[in-house]
Parts: sequence; structure tokens; C-alpha cells
Amino acid sequence: MSALIIDGKQISADIRGEMVNEVAELKQKGVTPGLAVILVGEDAASKVYVGSKEKACVQLGMYSEVHRMAADSSEEQVLALIDKLNNQDSINGILVQLPLPKHINEKAIIDAIRVDKDVDGFHPESVGNLVIGDDSLLPCTPAGVIELIKRSGVDIAGKHAVVIGRSNIVGKPVAMLLLRENATVTICHSRTANLEEIAKQADILVVAIGRANAIDSKFVKPGAVVVDVGINRLDTGKLAGDANFESCKTVAGHITPVPGGVGPMTITMLMKNTITAAKKANGM
Ligand code: GUN
Repeated sequence: MSALIIDGKQISADIRGEMVNEVAELKQKGVTPGLAVILVGEDAASKVYVGSKEKACVQLGMYSEVHRMAADSSEEQVLALIDKLNNQDSINGILVQLPLPKHINEKAIIDAIRVDKDVDGFHPESVGNLVIGDDSLLPCTPAGVIELIKRSGVDIAGKHAVVIGRSNIVGKPVAMLLLRENATVTICHSRTANLEEIAKQADILVVAIGRANAIDSKFVKPGAVVVDVGINRLDTGKLAGDANFESCKTVAGHITPVPGGVGPMTITMLMKNTITAAKKANGM
């Protein structure tokens, strides 16, 4: 048996196709969703991500501002820019690219972003709203995971979902979203005893460990949906997920590849959040 491959590139393209139309309709009504991205310093990977976000905005017909700041910018300078963008009507979403230079307090920066413009979903109030079940902007990668599962025709309600990883940006929010979709959710982490045994009970296995090929077919129940959030650069230069794709696909029912699975969804969900924020700001 070989698993069905969940094509994140295709699903992402489908959603962007839907959003092109939605943005065009909004613009006819005088609303142009606007995203501001702040990049501090010269981190190579961050530059690539920020470029992709800008390109995605332009392709969808949205308004985009990228603020590139020197690596030695002070925390006060970044906070002053956030304050300006918080009060700028043409901007519906604000994203500060992480990681920030060490002398800047990441928490102070995230806390300063207006909750209704928090398109990363990292603000404590956004996190709280997610947990309570109130309306909020959802963190992009976790929202992308849910969208991939749903658009693969998999019902989440009543399923046992096991999330491996408990980070604030993936593990915890993805577990909350699965719970909201009425899954029975188990969160595993580096201190979990009997990881293999627990993972093997999962109908839906979300892997967000941050270590290449940490999970193989021994961890997968036959027919399970495996969603791999990991992106690791191997010594060979190739990208690998946290799950060993070749091994897991012999047992899984559905599986996301790396690259081409969860990755393409993150920016797509960022665009979706920006549209959602724009509609809300205009009482739509
Ligand atoms: N750096 C890597 N991924 C992300 C992300 O999703 N949001 C932000 N702000 N920074 C990142």
C-alpha cells in the first residue's frame, strides 16, 4: 500500500485562486487588504520568506509594505514603527519577521501589535481567543494544517489526533484547532514516555519536532493521516521533514511531502488572515 499524497502546492494554489476573486470583489467595494511586514537585520532565510510574502500580496492584488530595518535598530525604533502601522488605515495586517536580533525583546514586539492586525496570531490575546473559542486571527501554519486535512476529504470530528511537539507557534495552536474541530487530542513532546505507542494510536498524526526523519513507519497506524510540519536542511543540501516520507508512506493513508506539503500553506493562510482582518475593519 502507498499513501495518498496531500499536495500542499495544489491546495495552496486552489485557495489563492479563490482569494484572487475575493480581493477583486473587495476592491470594487473600495476595500484593498493591506499587509505590512517588518524585517530587522539580514537573516538570509528571513529575507527569502519576506520576499515570498510580498510577492503573494502583489499576485492577489493586495497592498503590501515591507519595512527593512538595519540589524542594529533599537527596540524603540521597531516599536515606533509598529505604533505607526497600528494607526495606519491602509494596513490591515502587521507581521514582524522572526527571529529578531538578540538585543530586541521578541515578546515586547509581539505584544505591541494591535490584536485586530495580528495576522501571525502570536499576540497573547489572539492565543487566548483561540483557546476560549472566540473569533480571532489564527496562526498561519496551524491553520494551514487544518485546511490541508479538510481539503483532503478527511473528517476530523471524533478522530484521535496526536500532535508531536508543543511549541507556541505550531504544536500548541494546532492541538487547539484540532480540538475545536472535535478531535480527541493528545500532545506529545520530548519528555513523553512511549511515544511510539501513543503515535501509533493516531488517526491523524501531526509531526512538529524540528528534527529530520525522527518519525518512521513504526510510529504510524495503518491508514493514518500524517501531516509533517518539519523543514530540515540535510548535510546533502536536500530538504527533509520530521517524518521519514518513504517509510511512513508505506503505512499511512494520507501523507504530506516535504517540500510541497505544509510549507506552501503558511503564506496562503497569512493572505487569508489579511483579507479577514480587512473585512472586519470595514464592518464586512
Ligand atoms: N519566521 C519563520 N516563520 C515565521 C512566521 O510564521 N511568522 C513570523 N513572524 N516569523 C517567522
